[in-house]
Amino acid sequence: MIQPTRAQMAQLALLAAALASATGAGAAPPRRPEWGAIVRRVSGAGRAVALTFDDGPREPYTSQILDILADQGIKATFFLVGENVRRYPEVVRRIVREGHAIGNHSWSHRSLASVSWEVARREIERTDVLIRAVTGRRPFLFRPPYGALGSQLAGPDGLAARERHLLVLWSVEVADWSTRSPLRVAAGTIRRVSPGSIVLLHDGGGPRGHVVTATRWMAGHLAREGYRLVTVPELLGIASARR
Ligand code: NI
Repeated sequence: MIQPTRAQMAQLALLAAALASATGAGAAPPRRPEWGAIVRRVSGAGRAVALTFDDGPREPYTSQILDILADQGIKATFFLVGENVRRYPEVVRRIVREGHAIGNHSWSHRSLASVSWEVARREIERTDVLIRAVTGRRPFLFRPPYGALGSQLAGPDGLAARERHLLVLWSVEVADWSTRSPLRVAAGTIRRVSPGSIVLLHDGGGPRGHVVTATRWMAGHLAREGYRLVTVPELLGIASARR
């Protein structure tokens, strides 16, 4: 088993406190991180929002999104598919180098809701191992493909807890995979966002030029509305710090 780094453990203490706050579990932080907990949005984070990009890396879109994020001084979270990490390791290293957060989004992007425990475990572990080999960091966020939790992933005895991951879903989605209109993606996101939102977007899984354009538009707009665009771990940390 791969142990989290000391830096990850410190970050997780913050996450655990934020989760306890978010779930009303009381004032005292739990003794250990609540692995396997489901995070859809984060209350108490003020005017902070987390943009998340799934299914990549996929070029040229991921690099184009990274350029926009760098230009605008914004951080985001990328939920990576193992097969694509293998294809684009340099892009994965750039994501980490530029201060963004990464999460595991399975090896092959099959739904884990209807496969055996062992198949699901292998989808998660294989991706963790490769991400760690490429970046030096083992991810502690997991987003199941299609958001499908099934009966095995969540809870204290679930697979995510056993593999020491938080389950990160989302509170805002605009079906960017079913439209090619950047206006629909940007306007739909802006309309639905509120403080603490986690926004689902896709940089992989198909042609995503419209997501690149939408990201440029909505990032600027949300900043003008006073939103800070941060990573999911930062969102949890902010909520914890304000508790
Ligand atoms: Ni996905």
